[in-house]
Amino acid sequence: MASIGHEVIGIDVDLDKIDALSRGEAPFYEPGLPEILVEGVASGRLRFSADISDAAGAQVHFLAVGTPQQPGGYAADLTFVDAAVDALIPHLAPGDVLAGKSTVPVGTAVGIAERIRSTGATLVWNPEFLREGWAVQDTITPDRLVVGIPKDAGGERAAGILREVYHPAVAAETPFIVTDYATAELVKVAANAFLATKISFINAMAEIAEVTGADVTQLADAIGHDSRIGRRYLGSGIGFGGGCLPKDIRAFSARAEELGRGESIAFLREMDAINLRRRARAVRLTIDALDGVYEKNITVLGAAFKPHSDDVRDSPALDVAIHLRGFGANVTVTDPAAIPNARRLHPQLTYVEDRDEALRDADAILIVTEWDEYRRQLSPEHASSLTDGRVIIDGRNCLDAAAWRDAGWRYFGMGRP
Ligand SMILES: NC(=O)c1ccc[n+]([C@@H]2O[C@H](COP(=O)([O-])OP(=O)(O)OC[C@H]3O[C@@H](n4cnc5c(N)ncnc54)[C@H](O)[C@@H]3O)[C@@H](O)[C@H]2O)c1
Repeated sequence: MASIGHEVIGIDVDLDKIDALSRGEAPFYEPGLPEILVEGVASGRLRFSADISDAAGAQVHFLAVGTPQQPGGYAADLTFVDAAVDALIPHLAPGDVLAGKSTVPVGTAVGIAERIRSTGATLVWNPEFLREGWAVQDTITPDRLVVGIPKDAGGERAAGILREVYHPAVAAETPFIVTDYATAELVKVAANAFLATKISFINAMAEIAEVTGADVTQLADAIGHDSRIGRRYLGSGIGFGGGCLPKDIRAFSARAEELGRGESIAFLREMDAINLRRRARAVRLTIDALDGVYEKNITVLGAAFKPHSDDVRDSPALDVAIHLRGFGANVTVTDPAAIPNARRLHPQLTYVEDRDEALRDADAILIVTEWDEYRRQLSPEHASSLTDGRVIIDGRNCLDAAAWRDAGWRYFGMGRP
């Protein structure tokens, strides 16, 4: 926002984050973010504070706090949203716009609008579609903008203000969809539900491929040529994870149940189950390949839930690593960015920064996050120089199976022979 000319103040309750950001340091790994952050802070247009009263005077207030899965349940935990709104209310002025960005259960916005009514500010719902790893690009050049507005006159005015906020994207004729609150809230969860379904669909095909000798990667290429289907998001492997997709489809299911429409999206439970089964499949493949993993040295390449990120929330990679350790394996995990976060979450695992050191004397190697360092820059010949183990489990179907086999390795993919 500062890079496109706005005066911005970022507020968080986490003092460490505010300190780091104020120094121009990104508190997480995100390509392109450090540069743009330093620029913003240096320009004087970007400041950070832990004091919510510093939000007073802003015309537009973005609400982007977390909406995690409730402990012990599927529904979204709205504690942070409620706390942030309560804290902000005394600082809202008539004419201000409060733009909700957090992913929330449909029906949340209307309640927040009611709560802020007496301030004279207007609530809009402006769901966020950025992808971690591409966040800067997705924010500056989004593929669409969606704004849910109230039916009263303040709604159109607030949508106009958001058009000004997003002026470069609007000038570039990015689709700008103005709708009601419920549709805006649903667009976000529907998009995530669709993506989760696409991944789990191909992973379901992988399960069938496994018992028929078919190759799911060729199947994905072949059906992907159909422009109605498309090849993107048909990557088979150990499935999706992260801080969004899993909790968002669960929260959607929980909300649909509350609305008496649980059956309409009952299939999402199946998508979740398929997804989790693929993690178990990678563990089983490893156990079978090594004829038991007890006291075997296993190197897990990747900890982040996906490449170009240090996010380990609900990471399939770490889940696989933890389960193998549970079966008695000596598991070593490496990752170019996510080791500090992984160590905080699972201190019981062994972490090694250097990829080659991590690979030394491995009985089996699992590639579970498809960083270029593993997928493109690790040749079977080089791996052979580091260990006598000759088992490679390709949890992301991202390696050249023939090249590894030709170099004397036993290669195991996910749904490919
Ligand atoms: N991460 C993504 O790629 C992504 C993409 C689209 C949508 N979303 C949605 O955006 C929201 C945030 O996701 P995230 O991944 O950034 O979560 P996060 O947990 O990484 O960040 C949320 C931040 O909010 C802060 N916070 C909590 N309570 C606060 C309060 N009362 N006042 C000020 N700050 C407070 C936390 O300290 C934390 O820094 C979620 O609803 C998520 O579903 C995330």
